[in-house]
Amino acid sequence: MANFLDIKNIESSDLKKIIQTALELKKSRSGLTKGAFDSDRALDGHIVALIFEKPSTRTRVSFDVGVRQMGGQTIVLSGNDMQLGHGETIADTARVLSRYVDLIMLRTYEEATLHEMAQFAQVPVINGLTNFSHPCQIMADIMTYEEHRGSIKGKKIVWSGDGNNVFNSFAQAAEKFDFNLTFTGPETLKPDSKVIERAQQNGTKISIEHNPILAIKDADLVVTDTWISMHDLQSARERRHNQLRPYQVNRELLSHAKSNALFMHCLPAHRDEEATSEVMDGKHSVIFDEAENRLHIQKAIMRWCLEK
Ligand code: CP
Ligand code: NVA
Repeated sequence: MANFLDIKNIESSDLKKIIQTALELKKSRSGLTKGAFDSDRALDGHIVALIFEKPSTRTRVSFDVGVRQMGGQTIVLSGNDMQLGHGETIADTARVLSRYVDLIMLRTYEEATLHEMAQFAQVPVINGLTNFSHPCQIMADIMTYEEHRGSIKGKKIVWSGDGNNVFNSFAQAAEKFDFNLTFTGPETLKPDSKVIERAQQNGTKISIEHNPILAIKDADLVVTDTWISMHDLQSARERRHNQLRPYQVNRELLSHAKSNALFMHCLPAHRDEEATSEVMDGKHSVIFDEAENRLHIQKAIMRWCLEK
């Protein structure tokens, strides 16, 4: 049994194997109706708890559908409706859930909560997003890139906007998949320096360039995300918008990337804020493939956790 908590602690060979499995699972479903089981029903007899302390559309639905396609069943729980939201400790919750379910997926606030859940659970725990990271998303993004363009190794990925949780997982992936990563955004919203330093110490080609036009030059993939994440204070909205506006991904900015560059956004998007609708719906965009691939990659992640 293995946990899927962050990209940095998983072997690169395992991460690549998960992507390969996801591609095979996706292929094997082509032609199947949406409701159909996978032929091997790998989660037959398994029950998966999906716990959300924050809102979700993609993570909630893709995990739920993925478990069902593999023949398993889910219990979708909101943190507030559980005793967890009313004072029961994470450790006790983890120990109790482990007596009932075969796997736990948790979307929460603090990274420490996730790690505590994993420490005390006797079943695998998967990170469904924290304030610090979103590894399932980045696995789907890499799968999507490679489906469209082949190996991501050596490619130039540019993140434009807020140095947030999704960026952090990208930075960890840069080391494991050997791609070059450039962050462009305001100095005040640049990524956690520990994330950058760790990546650089491990030889990852990761850089910060505050000028978005210089940063995006020759990019193979341009990525952005909401300017205000779920854990950010709404009171910071105006300040963040003012600082991030120059980093909006629009036609002009994207014209400085390679002509065959892809555009990604994990969604949900605030159209015409971090990216224009023209870009989101344009020829570079693969945002809905990215969303679909959450399903396939998470199925591969769950299999890996249970088989490892
Ligand atoms: N990208 C993503 O994780 O979306 P949800 O918040 O809808 O799950
Ligand atoms: N950075 C965003 C990602 C949402 C999937 C957030 O944490 O709200």
